[in-house]
Parts: sequence; structure tokens; C-alpha cells
Amino acid sequence: MVASADLLATVLAVAQNNAKGSWEYGTVAEALLEWNNASISVWNDPFPNQQVPGVEWESVAALSWLRDKGVIRTDGETLYEDGAKGDPASLGIPALLIGTTDSTYHDAATRQKDHLIADNDRWSNGAISHREGYAELWADFIYMVPPFLAYYGVASDDVNLAKEGANQVKLYREVLGTEAGTWKHIVGPGAPDDGIWSTGNAWAAAGASRVLATLRKSKFDGETKSEQGELVGTIKAIIDGAIAQDNDQSELLRNYLPDSSWWGEISGTALLAATALRMAKLEPGTFGESYKEWALKKMDVVDSHIEEGTGIAKPAIDPLNWRNTEPYVAGSPEGQSFIILLHAAARDA
Ligand SMILES: *[C@@H]1O[C@H](CO)[C@@H](O)[C@H](O)[C@H]1NC(C)=O
Repeated sequence: MVASADLLATVLAVAQNNAKGSWEYGTVAEALLEWNNASISVWNDPFPNQQVPGVEWESVAALSWLRDKGVIRTDGETLYEDGAKGDPASLGIPALLIGTTDSTYHDAATRQKDHLIADNDRWSNGAISHREGYAELWADFIYMVPPFLAYYGVASDDVNLAKEGANQVKLYREVLGTEAGTWKHIVGPGAPDDGIWSTGNAWAAAGASRVLATLRKSKFDGETKSEQGELVGTIKAIIDGAIAQDNDQSELLRNYLPDSSWWGEISGTALLAATALRMAKLEPGTFGESYKEWALKKMDVVDSHIEEGTGIAKPAIDPLNWRNTEPYVAGSPEGQSFIILLHAAARDA
């Protein structure tokens, strides 16, 4: 049974109330944007007149929510203060949108971009680190940084920066990608995780799809065909790899996709399904009907795990501890957002 609009409003409210980390704020904002103001998201018409649209931030829930809460820092090197290098960049696109009418936000987004590009802790192949102070690559990075770099590149008429968004996806795949098409979670000295984390694969595929849409809908479409082709291949490899492991009796994807000791959970399932739907629309030649059918089936299953009344979806993986075998039942900010992204994708399919 498909969740009602009222229930989805509750799902979204839980995400907004529970968000604490920079990437959670950024992901909730993306969900608000795709849900309430789809026309200016990268899936529709992100660059009318080849530019970032000048919007009154008060009229866009994603932006007014961030602004009213004072989430985005406008006087520092980064848009948020936390230990991660990559995560604060998830606030970059909202900062650029607010920045069309408030230049302090535009300037803050510029410093955030410069901070990423200046990274001295890069992996040997040139991948920007997801952490401050040492080189470590997390699949999560792909949702936070490359979409921002690509969008900033279009916004500033800089084709090389737009291409750098795609290039970072490629460099990350070189390190995290596996033969099965799916990605490891983390490679580096701090918190290595060789496991094929469902949410990590979803971050990677969904982030790459946002870079693809950004390039495709920009004035750089013609100049970025080879980057776009590579992104399509990367996204397909992850989704195909996840579908090949979609055999848990719960009909949700397992938290570590190939590991049968793990339970199925809603977060990775919802964002991978959302991505399959976005790709079926953007790239129907590669992602035919079967992807759409798979994703809509997953949406049904995910919806059946949303609790009436509270709007909490469970079981979800603990968003701060992916190895915690205890299901997270308080409402994962990212998992709740992914459900909204899935429903936005289904509505637009
Ligand atoms: C965003 O969506 C709301 C309704 O959800 C609408 O009132 C508002 O005008 C939209 N803003 C823009 C800039 O399109």
C-alpha cells in the first residue's frame, strides 16, 4: 500500500526534527526541495536562462528551514563545523540558491568550494578526502561533494569545475569499486570498512545521478558527454549489483548487501530505489521498465514499514553506527529523507 500524503508529511517532519549532522541537514534539504519545489531541483529545470534561478528563499521550504534554523555558517571556511571534510558540502547547493538573493551565502559557498579544491589530504589518485587531516574515502562523499562541485561549475560558468564533479566520482570508484559493481564503504586509516554497505552504495549511486542530471541539464551538456557516459556506467553497476543481492526474505536490501547475517533495512533500499526511478526517467535506454518495476516494488515494501501515527520507518540502520546490529527505531534522519526522495522520484517518473 502506498503511503498517503499525510503520512509522508509526518515522515518528513521526523527527518526535520531529528537532523543533527551537516549531511543530515543537507539531505533533508534536498528531500524538501525535490518534494516541494521540484521545478528547481536538478531533475527538472535547475538552470533556467542557463543560471541558478533567483529565488526568494522564504518561498522555498528547503531554504527557509535551513536559514531559520541557522544551520549554514556564513563566516567560516566551510558551511558547517564538523570533523568531516565532505559532509558540510551537502549544504552547498542550498547556499548557492539562497546566495542568489543574499551574497553572504554565495560567498560562504565559494569558500566551501575553495576549501575542497585546496585539499592537501588527497588520495594518491587525486580523490578529495572525506575527512579533515588525512586521506580517507567514504562512499558517502559522493552524495555530498560531487553534486555541489558540478552545480557550482555550472553556476560559475566553469566547465572544468563541472567536470571535476564527475571526475571525483571516477576517482572514488577506482578505490572503492568492486568487481560486483557495488562499492566498499570506507578505505583509509581512520575507520576502514570493506563491507558493501547498502546506504553507502545508495549515497554513491544517488550522488552520481545528481551529477549526471546537473551536467545533462546545463549548458555543458554537449561538452560533457564522455563524463556522462561514465557516470551512467557507474550508477548502473551499483544498481545492478544491489539488485543481484536483493534476496532477503524481508524484501528490503540487507544493511551489508551480500551478507546474509544482516537484516533488511529501509534506508539503503529507499535511496537505491529512488535512484533507479530517476535513472529510468533520465536514461531510459539504459534503465528500462524492469528498473522502474523493481523500484516501485521496493517503494511498496518500504511504505509497509512506516508506522502509522509516528511516521517512523523501521527497521533502519543506525545512521551513526553502520555496524550496530540493533535496528534504529527512533527515526533515522537520512532514512526518513530517502523515503521522501523515493516518493518524489515516483511522482515524477
Ligand atoms: C516552492 O513551493 C511552494 C509550494 O510548495 C510555492 O508556494 C513556492 O512559490 C515555490 N517556490 C518557488 C521559488 O518556486
